[in-house]
Amino acid sequence: MDKSSPPRKTPEELRSHRWYGVDNMRASTHRSRTAQMGYGRDDYMGKPVIAILNTWSDLSSCHGHFRTRAEEVKRGIWQAGGFPVELPSFTLSEVFMKPTTMLYRNLLAMEAEEQLRAHPVDGAVLMGGCDKTTPALIMGAISMNLPAIYLPAGAMLRGDYQGKVLGSGTDVWKYWAELRAGKISECEWRGIEDGIARSFGTCMTMGTASTMMSAAEALGFTLPGASSIPAADSRHSQMAAYTGRRIVEMVWEDLKPSDILVAESFDNAIKTVLALSGSTNAVIHLVAMARRAGIPLQIDRFDALSEQVPVLANMRPAGEYLMEDFFYAGGLRAMLQEMRSLLATDCLTVNGKSLGDNIAGSKIHQDAVIHRLEEPVHTSGGLVILRGSLAPDGAVLKPVAAEPHLLKHRGKAIVFDSYDEMEARIDDPDLEVDADSVLVLRNAGPKGGPGMPEWGQLPIPKKLLREGVRDMLRISDCRMSGTSYGACVLHVAPESYVGGPLALLRTGDLVEMDVAERRLDMLVEKRELERRKAEIQSPKITYARGYGHLYLKHIGQADEGCDFDFLARNAAVPEPEIH
Ligand code: FES
Repeated sequence: MDKSSPPRKTPEELRSHRWYGVDNMRASTHRSRTAQMGYGRDDYMGKPVIAILNTWSDLSSCHGHFRTRAEEVKRGIWQAGGFPVELPSFTLSEVFMKPTTMLYRNLLAMEAEEQLRAHPVDGAVLMGGCDKTTPALIMGAISMNLPAIYLPAGAMLRGDYQGKVLGSGTDVWKYWAELRAGKISECEWRGIEDGIARSFGTCMTMGTASTMMSAAEALGFTLPGASSIPAADSRHSQMAAYTGRRIVEMVWEDLKPSDILVAESFDNAIKTVLALSGSTNAVIHLVAMARRAGIPLQIDRFDALSEQVPVLANMRPAGEYLMEDFFYAGGLRAMLQEMRSLLATDCLTVNGKSLGDNIAGSKIHQDAVIHRLEEPVHTSGGLVILRGSLAPDGAVLKPVAAEPHLLKHRGKAIVFDSYDEMEARIDDPDLEVDADSVLVLRNAGPKGGPGMPEWGQLPIPKKLLREGVRDMLRISDCRMSGTSYGACVLHVAPESYVGGPLALLRTGDLVEMDVAERRLDMLVEKRELERRKAEIQSPKITYARGYGHLYLKHIGQADEGCDFDFLARNAAVPEPEIH
């Protein structure tokens, strides 16, 4: 599949030629308005026009370096003979946006696609990193199918508090539980708050951001090694300039997402996620991305590959280390080279070479961080898919982040109908709960949340924390942050809001999970379930107008990737007429 000497476009074949190169009044206006911006004809005529989709904003702390990086990308584009145009894009800042950025992933995907369609551009650099920005930008680029390269934001530096290394999210949950258990003081908590995010860049645990940046590289969407470079490292700036140079060549070569993405490249991405013990969110995003490319990926593929792929990266939340350590240990290229025998190495990537070429010769420098294939962190089970009477269309669990005794468990359900109800009752001293109870949250799925907020790591009740309990079986139709951990069964489909079996569960019902058998059941008589079905109340509509209304009308379920029904297709859209 290697495109060794690709045919090259002529300047007249560039898409932007229709805006700039033809002899009519409209093209004259385009040239005139480009002159208005201070550019002469030599700057852009006959050159690839490259859109830089920049998800910078004052509220996107993870992308704080993107204004500088955009200039570095432009430097590369100019050097290679292209014309850069920066297009600000919806920033999807994970920590600040409410109710959840997942509500808006498809909006950024639409924005990315339509920005590229409507403007005189020949190719795109996609600048993302913070959780949903990566899948959103790539989904849009897949649907538009212009040459596109992804520039990963890179992870922030390790967190630090009094000599302790802190990891984003993971140590927030950990120390928050300690604070609630009375084991650390408010003053210590403030120190942790100030020390956990020390630089720009994404969360530096193997959360959704690091998982999806790595998956994008394994898919073939980045320059080799790009996803592992820490955001604050000077090599990240160099990578940005190289990315700018490369996209110009990609335009001349007409190297598009449809040339790169095949079923095997998605298998490579899934295997990468599994070997990293990556975020459960990757299941939803990779399914959505594949469907945009016309590849019918099912969630069960994760389970099948999970049997074959060992966990090699010893990364928090399931392991010990952080992204900075991962980079120094050799980064993603070294890990992929170690698991080379498991990969489809002939898959094409954005630099025109195969994945196998890009990882060849990479070495592991610290095998405590990236384990050898013969001595993995875990032999399998990065992510599993459970099915049963409680989740007929599937649910996701990361077994390696759970306490092993909970992987085969039967307990009585305690059901919460909303996050607010859970928050109000979870620490109630009168709540009848013990370590064997199963905490259940519903009405928190794609429609019910809406947006599947990251509430799936339900807090352990305070009275159990004081007894030393740190993990319990938890079940919900929402997601969980990739930085979280615990026996949390997520993405239960169909969700309760649309009448999935979760809606029928009641406090006191027995629930049984058997991970070895991939089973998740509610032990309730069929006749009783029928009786309950008749009593279900219609859920209330949460958006009467606006984007939320559109979202509720068209959003798909978790096992389908939560894309909008009218976007989740690989179908041609007409190019705009230039009048
Ligand atoms: Fe941006 Fe975690 S908040 S990656």
